[in-house]
Amino acid sequence: MGDRNERGPSTRRRRTTISGEATGASARQANGGKASGPGGQGEQDAPGSARRHKGSNDVKDRLSCHRLQESLLSSESGYSNYRGILNWCVVMLVLSNARLFLENLIKYGILVDPIQVVSLFLKDPYSWPAPCLIIGNDAGHHWPPGTISEGAGTFLHFVNLSAVLCFPPATVLTLSSMTPVGGVFALGVYTILFLKLFSYKDVNKWCREIRQATARPSVHRANGSAVHSNVTYPGNLTHRDIYYFIFAPTLCYELNFPRSTRIRKRFLLRRLIEMLFLMQLQVGLIHGWFPTVQNSMKPFQVKSYFQVLTFLFLLQVPNHMIWLLFFYWFFHSSMNFVAELMQFGDREFYRDWWNSETVPYFWANWNIPVHKWCLRHFYKPMLRKGVNKLAAQIAVFLVSAFFHEYLVSIPLKMFRLWAFMGMMAQIPLALFVGRFLRGNYGNAAVWISLIIGQPIAVLMYVHDYYVLHYGGVSEGGAV
Ligand SMILES: CC(C)(COP(=O)(O)OP(=O)(O)OC[C@H]1O[C@@H](n2cnc3c(N)ncnc32)[C@H](O)[C@@H]1OP(=O)(O)O)[C@@H](O)C(=O)NCCC(=O)NCCS
Repeated sequence: MGDRNERGPSTRRRRTTISGEATGASARQANGGKASGPGGQGEQDAPGSARRHKGSNDVKDRLSCHRLQESLLSSESGYSNYRGILNWCVVMLVLSNARLFLENLIKYGILVDPIQVVSLFLKDPYSWPAPCLIIGNDAGHHWPPGTISEGAGTFLHFVNLSAVLCFPPATVLTLSSMTPVGGVFALGVYTILFLKLFSYKDVNKWCREIRQATARPSVHRANGSAVHSNVTYPGNLTHRDIYYFIFAPTLCYELNFPRSTRIRKRFLLRRLIEMLFLMQLQVGLIHGWFPTVQNSMKPFQVKSYFQVLTFLFLLQVPNHMIWLLFFYWFFHSSMNFVAELMQFGDREFYRDWWNSETVPYFWANWNIPVHKWCLRHFYKPMLRKGVNKLAAQIAVFLVSAFFHEYLVSIPLKMFRLWAFMGMMAQIPLALFVGRFLRGNYGNAAVWISLIIGQPIAVLMYVHDYYVLHYGGVSEGGAV
């Protein structure tokens, strides 16, 4: 899954990971005594004495085979290389779904065929409104500084941002040929564009505010060139600069992004292979579990809540696996691929959210581009204006809940607020976990909320979608 040359095999690394000792022989020690120190003395002896020393070491090896050490899984061991476990999870994921793949292959044929998708698009591009909607966007308009007043500029930005937010949903809701997946994709792209333009506008405004102190007229290069030379406002106001930002894997604009010195071709190829493979795996898994989700509609109809619970438990594992795969595919493979291609230097797209012992830690670490945007353009400005911390946090979660609902309800063409409520439920959950659970218990609570919370929302949306579009629910099997 990761980069092999970043870390050697675990067998080679094992001892250094545990305690930093160079070799196993170096740690020999008498029962009840202390470690005898590195066994490097023999290395300084003459060849004859080295042979004798080696012989006596062999004897010692045969006599003693224990040393003072912790078990690997104890936290005291300091061991942290769980790469093999991660690979095991992937293998288990593939094997545990193999039966389902085979069954579906026999029943429904090949469900995932990327070549078919491309050829269909090429044959009739006008029946694919989502890609057309995305291709049609143009973000690169700006006026040279001084052409219009600050107030007029703010108004025009407001109009532009409103159009970015409202035009795509109007298209999605009015075009019957728009599929839910196409709708999510198109709205996702426009939401990203909205956040980026918001950031672009803010940063340029901040630059204007400090312009007197910082402006240097001798600016030659802007973002988009890997040659390092600091750009200052208004030297950044170029099409090249804004388009570099639009395609860069970040939501926060900066006049001088950190840049890597070269494109590592092997790294790029590995990320590309991961992207293609994991995308197929995700689509395959979604197709594989689709009949199960459909079958779960029947218990809703007959109001058998025990059966609903059973389906919920059945759904939670594949749903969670798909989500984990999505995380790796999007935040590691895809974002690193784009960053490498654009020589974008800041690769902190996620932090160790899996160790979250509190809910706020999870939200501050799992999606760094969004978190950074929230902090920089919404949360901190509110705090600076004197809003208290809890109110500011609630406001951030309200905005986030709005966008979650926007990205689900509009493509499905139904308004149910499950995603909104799921996001808002994070606040009481955070208060509860923070108040009553600590350490591993807190970590388990975060995992449980992720594993159980999402399938509940998925099930609710799928159920409502079926009731709305099929006037009831099917008896199972594919539609
Ligand atoms: C709401 C949210 C922004 C809070 O983040 P947090 O890191 O828990 O917030 P904190 O209160 O600990 O403070 C964060 C920053 O604000 C700063 N800060 C705190 N009080 C401040 C004040 N009065 N004035 C200025 N800055 C202040 C802190 O120093 C800290 O700065 P740093 O990041 O540079 O260290 C975060 O939970 C979040 O991003 N939520 C939404 C996430 C989301 O919806 N993601 C969608 C994923 S799909």
